[in-house]
Amino acid sequence: MPFTLPDLPFPKSALGDYMSQETLDYHHGKHHKAYVDKTNGMLSDKGLSGASLAQVIRAAREKGDNPLFNNSAQIWNHSFYWNCLAPPEGQQPSGKLAELIAEEFGSTDQLLAKLKEEAVGHFSNGWAWLVLDRDRLSITSLRDADTPLVHEGMKPLLTLDVWEHAYYIDYRNARPDFAEKVLGNIVNWDFVGQNLDGKGEARADQQG
Ligand SMILES: [Fe+2]
Repeated sequence: MPFTLPDLPFPKSALGDYMSQETLDYHHGKHHKAYVDKTNGMLSDKGLSGASLAQVIRAAREKGDNPLFNNSAQIWNHSFYWNCLAPPEGQQPSGKLAELIAEEFGSTDQLLAKLKEEAVGHFSNGWAWLVLDRDRLSITSLRDADTPLVHEGMKPLLTLDVWEHAYYIDYRNARPDFAEKVLGNIVNWDFVGQNLDGKGEARADQQG
């Protein structure tokens, strides 16, 4: 079965000025969709029929099939990213997640400042990540389509897309402004907290 473009987990107008409907039309409807279409187009002769998206990503990495790795990893990265966002309703980390943030960073503001620094400092295209490394929170970034699924000690919790296509419509070239507005207002902290179970990978996976 071909992979599909997952629906956004919120209405396209729900993120207000922090992320416009036009950005979502392009980023989800065109960029994310293109990764799905290209992956499906490449899979016909790869001997991977019936494999899940995560299995395709790992197989592509093992075989050194960069076009398949890049496109399939971008399906997963974007599917995870949309789940990390929610309408601005004053949401904050709670429970175990809030405890771990206080332990590792001191406060949510300090965590967000570090994540913003990582996002802004990342050269060129990629993704800023908050991950769980064993029992500790950690901030890192990955280049291009690279994904926590192929790295030991990186259980995905939260990501920010820092490809230019993620912010150019709403923020032009101002990546720092984009990172600050998105991280400060439209993070789905409930989703981030759920991922402490180590099963974040499955939440953006799909069966082929
Ligand atoms: Fe993107």
